[in-house]
Amino acid sequence: MCGIVGYIGKKDACEILIKGLRRLEYRGYDSSGIALHNGRKINSTKSTGKIVNLEEKLTEKNSVGTLGIAHTRWATHGKPTEVNSHPHSAGDITLVHNGIIENYQKLKEDLIKKGHSFLSDTDSEVIAHLIQEENIKFDFERSVQSAIKKVKGAYALAIIHKEHPDKLIVVRNSSPLVIGVGNNEFVIASDASAIIAYTNKVVYLDDGELAIITPTDYVVKTISNKLQKKQEQQLEWNDEQAKKEGYEHFMLKEIHDQPHAIQDAIRGRIDMENGMAILGGLTSVDKRLRSINRVIIISCGTSYFSGLVGEYMIEEYAGIPTEVEYASEFRYRKPLLDKNTVVIAISQSGETADTLAAIKEAKNKGALTLGVVNVVGSSIARETDAGIYNHAGPEVSVASTKAFTSQLTILTLIAVYLGRQRDMSMIMGRRILSELQKVPFLVSKILENEEKIKKIAYKYAKFENFFYLGRKYNYPIACEGALKIKEIAYIHAEGYPSGEMKHGPIALIDKHFPSVILAPKDSVYEKTLSAIEEIRAREGKVVIITTKDVTELHSDKYDIIYIPKTLEILMPIITAIPLQLLAYYVGTKRGHDVDQPKNLAKSVTVE
Ligand code: AGP
Repeated sequence: MCGIVGYIGKKDACEILIKGLRRLEYRGYDSSGIALHNGRKINSTKSTGKIVNLEEKLTEKNSVGTLGIAHTRWATHGKPTEVNSHPHSAGDITLVHNGIIENYQKLKEDLIKKGHSFLSDTDSEVIAHLIQEENIKFDFERSVQSAIKKVKGAYALAIIHKEHPDKLIVVRNSSPLVIGVGNNEFVIASDASAIIAYTNKVVYLDDGELAIITPTDYVVKTISNKLQKKQEQQLEWNDEQAKKEGYEHFMLKEIHDQPHAIQDAIRGRIDMENGMAILGGLTSVDKRLRSINRVIIISCGTSYFSGLVGEYMIEEYAGIPTEVEYASEFRYRKPLLDKNTVVIAISQSGETADTLAAIKEAKNKGALTLGVVNVVGSSIARETDAGIYNHAGPEVSVASTKAFTSQLTILTLIAVYLGRQRDMSMIMGRRILSELQKVPFLVSKILENEEKIKKIAYKYAKFENFFYLGRKYNYPIACEGALKIKEIAYIHAEGYPSGEMKHGPIALIDKHFPSVILAPKDSVYEKTLSAIEEIRAREGKVVIITTKDVTELHSDKYDIIYIPKTLEILMPIITAIPLQLLAYYVGTKRGHDVDQPKNLAKSVTVE
């Protein structure tokens, strides 16, 4: 996730853009850049690292202009280097981009054949060249429309043209973009936090729309040139609220980001015709992956629990023996590995010291190492032989939410990839992938039920102990649910396989010890019913998360949260959502700072 900002008006654009970048820094940054039109030409300046590094490069000469665009980058394609930083230019065109272009490889190949040469590894530079190519035939506006029709993926773009010092064009599809409407000036940005200091009158572009902005006016059209009538809105947010898009905490915002984050993990990675996952990051090791006979997943905390789900997925669908291990244990054992073992490291931050040390150990023993990492260019991404990026955008809240469901999404793709290299049929591959495409929508359906989950959370916020129970694919999710409520609400909670209760833990159950039970209608549903009965018989209070097609569970006996149905392999992405909301609302009810829980750090870079 990157941040874009643009200005057109009468004021010094540079100052406004730099301030805007600062406000967008929370969206993640590894580099930044700015382009200013001085009336004659466009001057671009870029720098890696913090925005202050960019400021140091700005001189009286390159910082003049009343039209400009700027970008804070959080790498998705290509390393966080200066050359990969935005703005990107081609001929007269200069632009900044937030999003992911799915078909950029193909577009790039075609453009190279037409004589274009590229400086960066980014998908974004391709759009600049594409517009420049169209600009040979059309005017600025039509060349943008024509180029965009060829682009597949997510984008918020701000584009300027050397010959048009009084025009800023912005386009949006699946990436956020807001236009701030001032008095003879406009500030555009990825979110309102970069705008709110200048105006609280805003227009939100919808997917497939572009705006042509001059210092005095703006027009919104569709990509197909149909005029759009837009409603201007008044924002009542302060700066802090604007960063969180009006949500009270980053954690809640990130929970709500999930339909998009899951979509971004899938974007461009599905080959429906062949029922196969397209994982470009594994191309270099594709051959070796065909001959591996053992998978070991190493990770910590929340990422460990996604690994546990991965174990079930890979064993069931790829038929490869899989183990999951805490990285902190793996590094000190004498793990038995060989060249036919693949070690998959899962890490949101890509900097977790234990996971990094475990990778080094695995490499020393000759295993192939892969990373499932959210932060591009992070240590784990660099240390592993190959890997897949989440593209979930930066996670600000210490408690992981969207990175977790994004990891589950990537693991599903890996299971299909490894499965299709082996015995999985094309029909099965297609079935899983087509259901996976529906998951973002199903997640948004659960989020619509937030009020009900909040009510239940408030009812249970007084308890000091919880069991979280699940079976098969949902056992790891029970563990993750318990971890979430520990982190956020400081409540003692244990995640258990529901079948294990009778072997000891049930001794703790009474009316003061509630259980949260994951019981979707799946292959182990009947077994889970028995666990529910055993707990009820001991006066234990029960919150049940289940699908609407169950007939045996009634709300007069239990607190029930209904979730939509999907394939069993995909259910963990669905069941995780209500557990995140439960933890969030119990934590906030108890008055905790849920974004920065005590004793915890976002990135654990020490042992
Ligand atoms: C999750 O809510 C945690 N804060 C923590 O368990 C985290 O998942 C763990 O430290 C691993 O981090 P990583 O994914 O960045 O490697």
